[in-house]
Amino acid sequence: MVKTDTPLINLQGVVKKYPIGIDDFYQALNGVDASVDEGEFVAIMGPSGSGKSTLMHIMGALDTPTQGKQFFKGKDIASYSEDQLAEIRNKEIGFVFQFFNLLPRVTVFKNVERPMLYGGIPANERKKRVMDALSIVNIADKAENLSNHISGGQIQRVAIARALIMDPSIILADEPTGNLDTKTAHEIMNILTGLNNKGRTIVIITHEEDIANFAKRKIKIVDGKIVSDTKNNKN
Ligand SMILES: Nc1ncnc2c1ncn2[C@@H]1O[C@H](COP(=O)(O)OP(=O)(O)O)[C@@H](O)[C@H]1O
Ligand SMILES: [Mg+2]
Repeated sequence: MVKTDTPLINLQGVVKKYPIGIDDFYQALNGVDASVDEGEFVAIMGPSGSGKSTLMHIMGALDTPTQGKQFFKGKDIASYSEDQLAEIRNKEIGFVFQFFNLLPRVTVFKNVERPMLYGGIPANERKKRVMDALSIVNIADKAENLSNHISGGQIQRVAIARALIMDPSIILADEPTGNLDTKTAHEIMNILTGLNNKGRTIVIITHEEDIANFAKRKIKIVDGKIVSDTKNNKN
């Protein structure tokens, strides 16, 4: 990964309005300015409904703002077509969600392999990359298990392996530990910390302070506005 001065993600004056009903809307983001640099480990915190997921979706090119600017690696992507956004998502961003979005009746191996199926990568190379990614999250021995026959913590490790498989610039994780007991949640956060120590940029959403404390920076959002953005002094 080559380091540059351009932020990985830069949002300026981002407003997001969701249509509700015929001519009414709900304003989920109220003018958000935020940047994420390469190598950062950021926790986005805030009450339920404050706009955390909306913000992450716009950071990750899953959605575009109603108003405002949205840059990814210096490129203005707010006006990109759905196909162009999909390409950025596939190549540059690894997503991990709270409700384990693996295909349940498919093996761990096949779940992690999936993002590569559209990239023309030969089968032997795919196999090597899947096994390497599973080793990083310590779950290579479960490669042939069905994804509904492993524990919640194991599922999240597989989700992280899958997020890593295209060697993305950034991992975005929306409440990745929200469904896990404290010990398992801390294991997942230790894995993410290890990835960040090796230079991977990570943004997570959490409403738990002990989880946010694993990150190096905390952004707090209330009613669609950032109310604080601080370095984590516990690191
Ligand atoms: N697709 C949608 N249509 C209408 N309202 C939405 C939609 N998605 C989210 N919202 C609303 O926007 C607000 C922010 O949602 P969200 O970003 O999911 O918050 P958080 O992740 O902090 O809980 C909430 O009030 C939610 O109900
Ligand atoms: Mg959310």
